[in-house]
Amino acid sequence: MTDLKQRAARLLAGMALAGSGLLLGTGAIANEMTPEKKLQAASLAATCANCHGTNGVGVQGSAVTGLANLSVEYIKTNMIWFKTGQRPATVMHQLAKGYTDEQIDIIANYLGKKD
Ligand code: HEC
Repeated sequence: MTDLKQRAARLLAGMALAGSGLLLGTGAIANEMTPEKKLQAASLAATCANCHGTNGVGVQGSAVTGLANLSVEYIKTNMIWFKTGQRPATVMHQLAKGYTDEQIDIIANYLGKKD
């Protein structure tokens, strides 16, 4: 192999290693709340704020319940029920369809009561 070819091969091997390191790295942080994940969760949850109040804290006097007092499981289950039509609703059955199960999970964990 020429010197140049050897250097190119080393460079490629190095890049592959660095690449796999990066993948492993993101896998490891995926379980934690990175600033990006937090922002994503906050943005998704903000789409509920118009009716359910900021951060799920219901607006006083509003007929729409706050979400912060509901458990993570309750929010998740009911969102799925709205989505599938198992729980009849005036608006939630339409809204819930706009979110993937993963997004519902993220929103429920962000807004719901952890105990
Ligand atoms: C346009 C207003 C509106 C928005 C936006 C909205 N909701 Fe609702 N939500 C309602 C209403 C009204 C109800 C009562 C059920 C119905 O009639 O649709 C409700 C009910 C619920 C319930 C059941 C509460 C209970 O006490 O059983 C959950 C859970 C819920 N919403 C979650 C969410 C989540 C999560 C989001 C954001 C992704 C969201 N909602 C966005 C209006 C809204």
